[in-house]
Amino acid sequence: MKNEPTYNMLEGFDIEAFRNDLIEWFRAEQRILPWRENQDPYRVWVSEIMLQQTRVDTVIPYFQNFLEKFPTPQALAYAEEQEVLKAWEGLGYYSRARNLQTAVREVVESYDGKVPNNEKELGSLKGVGPYTRGAILSIAYDLPSPAVDGNVMRVLSRILMIEEDIAKPATRKIFESLIRELISKEDPSAFNQGLMELGALVCTPKSPSCLLCPVRSHCRAFHQGKETELPIKSSKKKQKRLSYMTLVLKDQEGRYVVEQRPDTGLLANLWQFPMVPMQQVDREKVQDWVKDHYGLDIDLLNTVDHIKHTFSHVIWDMEVVTASASGELQSKVARFAAKEELEELPFPVSHQKVHKHL
Ligand code: ADE
Repeated sequence: MKNEPTYNMLEGFDIEAFRNDLIEWFRAEQRILPWRENQDPYRVWVSEIMLQQTRVDTVIPYFQNFLEKFPTPQALAYAEEQEVLKAWEGLGYYSRARNLQTAVREVVESYDGKVPNNEKELGSLKGVGPYTRGAILSIAYDLPSPAVDGNVMRVLSRILMIEEDIAKPATRKIFESLIRELISKEDPSAFNQGLMELGALVCTPKSPSCLLCPVRSHCRAFHQGKETELPIKSSKKKQKRLSYMTLVLKDQEGRYVVEQRPDTGLLANLWQFPMVPMQQVDREKVQDWVKDHYGLDIDLLNTVDHIKHTFSHVIWDMEVVTASASGELQSKVARFAAKEELEELPFPVSHQKVHKHL
């Protein structure tokens, strides 16, 4: 369409040659990865969800374990959420796992277990945004749908010399519109994965390996020596720091107090040791706070660790303190658990680090 806002960005750009160079390189150089063994849409889906915000090397063992435990949409749909979170333990961004299970349940109930192969149905599933939708349609179904994530925006902003701020949500649409014109209609899978692979192996954020790049001759930023100035990305605001006294509360029988987090928000439904918010509670009042919240009497013993954990929007500073507890536990979310029982529950990484002090 000649009136698209992106039309002139492709003026003088040899689309056909670019496509061919990219795809030829991808076919020859792609990494052997477990989710590339076949085109099963469920496997592609799981891999793309795991690969959001997480590196390939980290994802591989989780992917393999997850597919052993939940080899089909049905297996995942009928599993307990706790079991799914346990398989996700340590990967972070746990809402990805919860949303994936919700969406797979819908696929099993409404689509006879077949992952939809069109933008409308696929995109209406929980947690399937434009990126995941395009990745599944192109990789599993060979359909020419754009799959634009941060890596693809970096690669394409350099090749086409696009100076829009990639931190702005509206910018992704510009790239999607460009890719709809650029993408190979013969092999959309190799085209999209080629862009991803190029971003991972060659067109890296800090020092791209332009001399090894299969599409260097098409790259406007390279020709102008500006590849490291792109993409333009405004910096996000600083994370808020939150301090918690994290309590390893042990009763006379050697069991520990653990609690389940609320079913919405950060680390929803995961388990943790009690956390006293030190912005709100004076140090001298910690015992009172525990009495109010758990009905327990405690004696603080020792500070045994300091743990810092960075999330996308907040930073937790955790002071880990051991304590002995007595009295009757009164809480809707907390329970006593023996050490062996803790292994069955999903904990966030920051609280897994507390386990060594039990
Ligand atoms: N990053 C996102 N999707 C990917 C894929 N399919 N292969 C490799 N890296 C990726």
